[in-house]
Amino acid sequence: MKLHIAEMLRAQREAHVSFHTPGHKRAGADITELSYSDNLYAPHGVLAEAERDVAHILGAEKSYLLTDGSTCGVFSMLDCLRAAGKKRVAMSAFSHPSAYHACEVMGLEPVFIAQKTAYGIPVPPTEDALSSALEGADALLLVSPDYYGFFPPLAAAKALCRAAEKPLLIDGAHGAHLHFTERYAGKYADLWVDGVHKSLPALTQGAVVSAAGEWADRLGRAVKRFRTTSPSYPILASVECAVKYPRNEAIEAASEAFKLRHGCLKNDDWTKILVPFGSLGARACALLEENGIYAEFNDGNYVMFYLSPCTREEELEQLGALLDGLPRGEVAEDAEVGCVPIYKEGA
Ligand SMILES: Cc1ncc(COP(=O)(O)O)c(C=O)c1O
Repeated sequence: MKLHIAEMLRAQREAHVSFHTPGHKRAGADITELSYSDNLYAPHGVLAEAERDVAHILGAEKSYLLTDGSTCGVFSMLDCLRAAGKKRVAMSAFSHPSAYHACEVMGLEPVFIAQKTAYGIPVPPTEDALSSALEGADALLLVSPDYYGFFPPLAAAKALCRAAEKPLLIDGAHGAHLHFTERYAGKYADLWVDGVHKSLPALTQGAVVSAAGEWADRLGRAVKRFRTTSPSYPILASVECAVKYPRNEAIEAASEAFKLRHGCLKNDDWTKILVPFGSLGARACALLEENGIYAEFNDGNYVMFYLSPCTREEELEQLGALLDGLPRGEVAEDAEVGCVPIYKEGA
């Protein structure tokens, strides 16, 4: 498949004297919006073509490339609610800070979904909990999958929102690798974010926000409010490339086999491997780091290893060989959720 942005960057003339930003005055990939490189604020050339392809792959009416992380996508989605006159959003108290900061900025009131925790991990909300929270709200915002690789009841959420004629928003900061599957946010939501840089091979901050149907134009106006007017072309090119990156079923299967072999937490997402170390997590991380292996986080109960289609099977094997020699502690059932901040008024 054509990589519009990368090919445009590759085709640049060698003789390029820069009397434009950025100030480093070198051409290469880090250019600005020039006659041939399009304009993200009003795309009509390579960026429009890239966004069109991305929308097609993600099953969206419109997709917008972001160089400002999923944070920009969450703000843009919630701005759509504000613009549509919505006042209250049912959401998890374990949402990312961007969600409640955006609520604060947009004057939206969070209505928290009843949700339990176990072993320091938020348990996905039940259908009943979604239904009760939605009764007192104008829209539903879900995180799917969460940082631990669990999914909310997506089909039930979609049915509830459809029946109540309320929009469903999904923060898929950790789910960009799912667009090949039935659990993909775009199969359920009216508005959704893909954190492309987290689970697909995009540069840090690369993301996409997408809309279905009638939300597309409103989302187009929202991203104009929040996207930078100096987008990074290396990030833009990497997002297009990452969305077009082929599925790697070999590493997906290797991850699931690894989880079984090494006594990992049973979750629903191959990109997130959780090893129960209890209070010995910090020690395990230190020993792994001595061997050049770095985990995503240690929440005091579980150490999490984040994979992508670019993870190599030999790297998993290297991790597995080291894990076998590391002592594990007991995981504490009543541990506090360690890896996501809980909503606090004014925080
Ligand atoms: C659930 C969730 N939403 C949104 C974000 C924000 O993503 P970004 O760091 O790409 O802005 C994160 C970041 O970790 C996240 O975990």
